[in-house]
Amino acid sequence: MQRARILVADDEDGIRFLLRELLTKEGYQVEEAKDGEEAVAKMRQNEFDLAILDIKMPKLDGIEVLKQLKKSNPNLIVLMITAFGTQRIAINAIREGAYDYFSKPFDVEELRIIIRRGLEKRRLLDQIHNLRDVLSKEYQFDRIIGGSAEMQEVYCLIRKVITNDVTILIQGESGTGKELVAQAIHYHGYRKNKPFVKVNCVAIPETLLESEMFGHEKGSFTGAFSQKIGKFEQAEGGTLFLDEIGDMPLALQAKLLRVLQEREIERVGGTKTVKVDIRIITSTNINLIKAVEEKTFREDLYFRINVLPIYLPPLRQRHDDITLLVDHFINYYNGKLQKNIQGVSKEVMDMFMRYSWPGNIREMENLIQRAMILSASNLINADCLPSGLKSLSEYGDDQELMEDFSIPLAKKLQTIADRIEKRVIITALAKASYKRQESADLLGISRKSLHNKMLKYNLFE
Ligand SMILES: Nc1ncnc2c1ncn2[C@@H]1O[C@H](COP(=O)(O)OP(=O)(O)OP(=O)(O)O)[C@@H](O)[C@H]1O
Ligand SMILES: [Mg+2]
Repeated sequence: MQRARILVADDEDGIRFLLRELLTKEGYQVEEAKDGEEAVAKMRQNEFDLAILDIKMPKLDGIEVLKQLKKSNPNLIVLMITAFGTQRIAINAIREGAYDYFSKPFDVEELRIIIRRGLEKRRLLDQIHNLRDVLSKEYQFDRIIGGSAEMQEVYCLIRKVITNDVTILIQGESGTGKELVAQAIHYHGYRKNKPFVKVNCVAIPETLLESEMFGHEKGSFTGAFSQKIGKFEQAEGGTLFLDEIGDMPLALQAKLLRVLQEREIERVGGTKTVKVDIRIITSTNINLIKAVEEKTFREDLYFRINVLPIYLPPLRQRHDDITLLVDHFINYYNGKLQKNIQGVSKEVMDMFMRYSWPGNIREMENLIQRAMILSASNLINADCLPSGLKSLSEYGDDQELMEDFSIPLAKKLQTIADRIEKRVIITALAKASYKRQESADLLGISRKSLHNKMLKYNLFE
């Protein structure tokens, strides 16, 4: 079993020393805090099973700390230390959710027993909590829909990180809901009333990204007519979401690493440093380990941001969620489009199950919205789907072709090559939400040439 973690908060060095000695000997892992504020900060950085709080402490007193800790972590066992004259307050503390209290100078044996009982209660609470998790399969967390085992795991991780400030790396293909998860973490955590600020590392030209992130002083470069506050400062107290961090230029990666270590920034062209108190969430749809190997991503930065990874699996790997999501989007757009669509035909559902969803949930959302606009009846039929998807779902014909020896080899190969080319084009179109230029860029061909191929393969509606 893992060693229990205990936080001891007391302003008296002697008491902290005594408790640390005693608790370490008992086999517990001990962290110390000298005042109330430090106790709250430590609690945010780490997970504890039990906290021992002195009632009288500088900055934040024990009762205030107790209230804050219980709010974000209701299962935490809290013991209060009272001194002569604070017993009445201790009774108040029990009302606020403290488990028990003991007085200074303390009786070591009594203390040992109280702690053991407290930890036993904590273990039971955790067990009940886990059982509840297993029994009540969740189909939704905030605006995130999904009941598959993979998504249950994601919800579980979100719950774990909303009570603290650990840096999070969200990984997943395009359209899997990375931004949605980042928002859910922010809006359920204690920073929810402070800003959620997003920086998209791809959309901003390299030369501007630095000033966008850190701000600049007036006159620091040509065009810097006035002082500008960067995203780090705009997010003060809240969350900074660094989207597509894998595409951040190397020079900026070095600067970011420093900020993550020091928690302070310097505006471009500025000389003074500015402290920032923010939570950082990053996301990427590229394989960062590979990027590290290829030296396009700094290894030290990778370790800094990858404290807690959350992986969002592609839609094609969670079939269980497809029906749920289809229902969800139909419901949502019925309201928005004033429609009364009841669902999709069986044929369409079969196609959805076979399809590979390169653009993931974003692609499904767009597809359903479009089909609902086109649909004349109250059921979505195959004829409301893009032709590409229809032909992608028809498979199995390559085998037949290969076995048909009446067709000359060269012709056979040409036909197969065409089929593959068609699939690649459809996949790129879907991945880029049917935006022509983006699809052409993905394929590495010109827009004109994409247009010609779409004509050839009959991909216009
Ligand atoms: N599990 C989900 N439930 C409901 N809607 C979802 C879910 N996942 C994603 N979406 C929706 O799909 C769209 C894309 O989601 P989001 O922007 O979070 O994806 P992303 O992973 O950040 O994509 P990209 O890498 O392209 O930026 C949004 O409209 C979002 O609301
Ligand atoms: Mg995104």
